[in-house]
Amino acid sequence: MCPISKSEGPSSSASGGLRHPLLSPAEIRDVNTRYHDVAAGHYDSKWGIDFGELGGDQVLCKVRKALGPRPGPFARSLEIGSGTGYFTLNLLRAGVIVQATCSDISPGMLAALSANAQRLGLEVRTEMADAERLPFPDESFDLVLGHAVLHHIPDLPRAWSEFARVLRPGGTVLFAGEPSRYGDRLARVPKRAATIAAPLWRRALRAGKAPPAEGGAPDAALESVVDIHAFAPGELLRQARGAGFVDVRVIGEELLANWFGWTNRTLEATADPAEVPWAWKWYAYRGYLALQQLDRRLLESRLPAAIFYNLMVAARKRA
Ligand SMILES: C[S@@+](CC[C@H](N)C(=O)[O-])C[C@H]1O[C@@H](n2cnc3c(N)ncnc32)[C@H](O)[C@@H]1O
Repeated sequence: MCPISKSEGPSSSASGGLRHPLLSPAEIRDVNTRYHDVAAGHYDSKWGIDFGELGGDQVLCKVRKALGPRPGPFARSLEIGSGTGYFTLNLLRAGVIVQATCSDISPGMLAALSANAQRLGLEVRTEMADAERLPFPDESFDLVLGHAVLHHIPDLPRAWSEFARVLRPGGTVLFAGEPSRYGDRLARVPKRAATIAAPLWRRALRAGKAPPAEGGAPDAALESVVDIHAFAPGELLRQARGAGFVDVRVIGEELLANWFGWTNRTLEATADPAEVPWAWKWYAYRGYLALQQLDRRLLESRLPAAIFYNLMVAARKRA
């Protein structure tokens, strides 16, 4: 997707446990629903979610990293926390999945997804569901997938056992775009540097300050409440194995691309979007894609998964 990959750079929970011990799991789920219902209206434009060639390539590239060069086709897929359909709709278009079910705790997100699917002429079943209580029969899917969702779920062991329950024996599970705890800490450096440099940058580009946030934008204070985990690779490995999955792989992706992306995103957030020159946007966009290639070709196979910004986990249910 993007110009910038999307796990929102959450709050790291040093222990891997809930970051908001004062909120009950039910309250965290409720805040997630309300926050994402409001976010749904401008989610695709905020995160540059695309269902054309670029979005399709981005999603396919992630899925290939985790599942190999020719993933699928999977006859029946279930997406958890599908949002507006970034993964499922792009994978349907690519022929990687055939019959898609999308679930999310937020009805607003599912409504946006249905509108996207209709516009693209794609058929998708949607179901409002909490990942910890899936309203589907045992062994009813060949693929359970998700992008940027595990870090919102209060009881992960319970959710993982639900993923195992609804998958058929030998089925595949894949979660991508999960925030890495150390990767997130490393990414704070460029974010801080960009915050300091922002006034100078705006002056150089002759861009005015950002206007106050529009009404209808999700409450920024809730953002730190919905992002409740950041992961070390070993935690994702243990969660998957703990639910009985085999062939578990955890992969780290995006390092330089994310530093570059977050620097630019932080700078841009301080400016009036109408006054950021087109040439800058082009540079930020092309630069992100170029660094993504560099990460992919040079760094991802050589450096430990823990230092990358995003983690993905893929595994198989025992046949
Ligand atoms: C960061 S968004 C990602 C959306 C989409 N997967 C994407 O990549 O664009 C996280 C999504 O997870 C959903 N979510 C949060 N908590 C959930 C839960 N407990 N069960 C199911 N979905 C949940 C949110 O409503 C939201 O749509």
